[in-house]
Amino acid sequence: MKVAPSILSANFNNLVEEIKLCEGAEFVHIDVMDGHFVPNITIGACVIKNLKKEIDKVLDVHLMITDPYKYSPDFIKAGADIITFHYESDSDVKKTIDLIKSHNVKVGLSIKPGTSVDVLKPYLKDLDLVLVMSVEPGFGGQKFMDSALDKIKTLAKLKQEEGYHYLIEVDGGINTETGKLVRDAGCEVVVAGSYVFKSENYAEKINYLKNL
Ligand code: DX5
Ligand code: ZN
Repeated sequence: MKVAPSILSANFNNLVEEIKLCEGAEFVHIDVMDGHFVPNITIGACVIKNLKKEIDKVLDVHLMITDPYKYSPDFIKAGADIITFHYESDSDVKKTIDLIKSHNVKVGLSIKPGTSVDVLKPYLKDLDLVLVMSVEPGFGGQKFMDSALDKIKTLAKLKQEEGYHYLIEVDGGINTETGKLVRDAGCEVVVAGSYVFKSENYAEKINYLKNL
């Protein structure tokens, strides 16, 4: 699996250095929260613009915001490589996918734990990434919810049967134990926040996840 360390649990006083310590990680996962779609506020496009100048990794931007259609252009301009937004947001899903793709930026769609994978079906052929939330979005350090596993399996099966190209990414409560579960279910990219950044050696933890 590829690993996407979530900077939500990193030391924001030293963000660039923190990310540089994430040797072996192909992605860096950036959680954008608006205090409306989720009960927490994090960072905006200006932070991503600055990271883009310093960081040579795929900037995997996870928008937990009410109106991704309105704000996606800011994140595109800032240098996001992948923009993932929520099915449960207020924006028109198809229009938002088309908008992001029209700028040659990769697009992902995410579902919260209570949302069925079935709602994604009309969009799967257009997606570069599907993000299955294994915690309620909003905060790092929560416990993994097993309900994600069947969703991953369904997405892996559909991908194979229909020849879709999306990556299957899982976010929330990932460690070596839950990492094995999601890998066996068919996950291709794991997001890991506290497991990586609350440890002494980020590269070691990333390596564990890569080689489960
Ligand atoms: C939660 C975020 C996650 C979070 C994961 O809403 O989307 O990316 O940082 O943190 P951990 O890995 O600690 O569950
Ligand atoms: Zn996230």
